[in-house]
Amino acid sequence: MNVLVIGGGGREHAMAWKLAQSDKVQMVYVAPGNGGTALDSRLKNIPITDVVALREWAQENKIGLTVVGPEGPLAAGVVDEFRAHGLRIFGPTRAAAQLESSKAFSKAFMQRHNIPTAAYEAFTDPVAAHAYVNRMGAPIVVKADGLAAGKGVVVAMTLDEAHSAIDFMLLDNTLGVVHNAGAGGQAVPRVVIEEFLEGEEASFMVLCDGKDVVALATSQDHKRLLDDDLGPNTGGMGAYSPAPVVTPQVHARAMREIILPTLKGMEQDGIPYTGFLYAGLMIDPQGHVKTLEFNCRMGDPETQPILMRLKTDFVDVMMAATEIGGLENLELDWDRRTALGVVLAAHGYPGTPRKGDVIEGLPTVNTLSDEACMVFHAGTEHRDGATLTSGGRVLCVTALAENARAARQVAYDAIHGIRFNGMQYRTDIGHRAIKQATEAKAAK
Ligand code: AMP
Ligand code: GLY
Repeated sequence: MNVLVIGGGGREHAMAWKLAQSDKVQMVYVAPGNGGTALDSRLKNIPITDVVALREWAQENKIGLTVVGPEGPLAAGVVDEFRAHGLRIFGPTRAAAQLESSKAFSKAFMQRHNIPTAAYEAFTDPVAAHAYVNRMGAPIVVKADGLAAGKGVVVAMTLDEAHSAIDFMLLDNTLGVVHNAGAGGQAVPRVVIEEFLEGEEASFMVLCDGKDVVALATSQDHKRLLDDDLGPNTGGMGAYSPAPVVTPQVHARAMREIILPTLKGMEQDGIPYTGFLYAGLMIDPQGHVKTLEFNCRMGDPETQPILMRLKTDFVDVMMAATEIGGLENLELDWDRRTALGVVLAAHGYPGTPRKGDVIEGLPTVNTLSDEACMVFHAGTEHRDGATLTSGGRVLCVTALAENARAARQVAYDAIHGIRFNGMQYRTDIGHRAIKQATEAKAAK
C-alpha cells in the first residue's frame, strides 16, 4: 500500500518514519515534507499543500491511507475533501476541527456539555474586554480566537499585560482576523478571556474512529522558550513520554470527565468526531483535571517521543482507526522505557525565525527502525547537498532509554555534535519527570 502523510514538521517526520516500518507499506509520501523526510529512502516528498490538489494527487497515485499531521489542512477541510471522493483518511472533518480552530467554539462546547475547563467570556469589543479584565483582576489569560501556532495565548500576570494583549489581538488585529477568516470565514477578531489555572500540564491524546476510542501513551511538553519555564510561549521546545503526573487515577478521570463526554457531545451536536483528539490538561495537586485546550491532531513535539515508544504496527493502527468501530478490539503495545525529545530552534524563534543557516554534524541518514536516538527534522530543507534551516523549530533530537534521566543524557549527547548559527534549545527538558522519579525513590 502507498501511504500519504500531510505536513512537513517534526511530527510528520516521526509519523512517516513509523509508518514506513510496516511491511504493508510500499512507499510513504510526505506532502510537503522537509529536509529529513527527503533524506530517508523509504520516504518521498511531494511539493503539494493545496487540499484539492492533494486529493487529486492521492487519487492518481492510488494512496490507500492518508494521515494528517497539522491543524491547518484539517481546518481547511482536507478530510471532507478526501472522504467525498472515497479516499481513506484519518482526521476530523472541518466542522469537528473547530474544537481546535476556534477557542470560542470549544469553550462554548465545553460549557454546554459540562466538561471541566476554566471559566471564561468571549469578546469582540475591546472596551468590554478591558472592562472585564479590570473586574476580574490578574493573573488572567487572554487568547486569540483562531489558529495561532501556540502563539495566540498571553498568560498575563499583571493587568497591564492583559490590556496590551487585548489591544494586540483585537485592535492591531494580526492574529484574530487572519485566523478567524481561515477557520470560519468570519472576519471579526475575537478573544477569549479566561480564569488563570494553576497546576501541572500534561498532553492527553486519543484516537477516535467515530464510535470507539483508544488512548495513546501520555506525554508532557515544555511550552516556554527558556530553561525553568521562562520566556515566551512556543509551539513546544521538548517533550517526553510517559508523563508520571498522569497517574492511573488522573488517566481514568481524564477519560471519564473530558474525553468520553467530548465525543458524546460532538455526536449529540451532530458533528461526530474522528481523528486524533488532544486534550491539554491542567492537573491540580488534588488530581482534579481541567481542559486547557483541545487540539484536533497529535502534538508536536509530543508525537516524536510517543511514536518512538509505539511497538504496534502504525499502519494497522491507522487502518483500524479509519473504520467506524475499528478501534473496539485494538490494544496498543508500548515500550516501557521513556522517550525524550529536545527541540533545536532557529535564531529568532518564536518571533521571526531566520532561515538558511547551514546545519552541521547531523548523523547520517536515519533509516534504522530500532535506533535509540532519532533526529527528527522539522524546519529544514536540502539545497546543493547541504541541509539548511527553513523554519522556527528545526530539529527534534529524540532518545529512548531506561528512564527520563538516561534518555535525557542520550539526547543531549547527540545534540552536542549538531551545530548551526543561532541554534537555541532548552537544557532542562524532562526536569519534572526526573524530579518526580527522584522524589518517588526518596519516599521508598
Ligand atoms: P493553549 O494554546 O490554550 O493551550 O495555551 C497555551 C499555554 O498557555 C498552555 O499550555 C498553558 O501553559 C497556558 N495557559 C492557557 N490557558 C491557561 C489558563 N487558563 N491558566 C493558566 N495557563 C494557561
Ligand atoms: N506541543 C503542543 C501542541 O502541539 O499543541
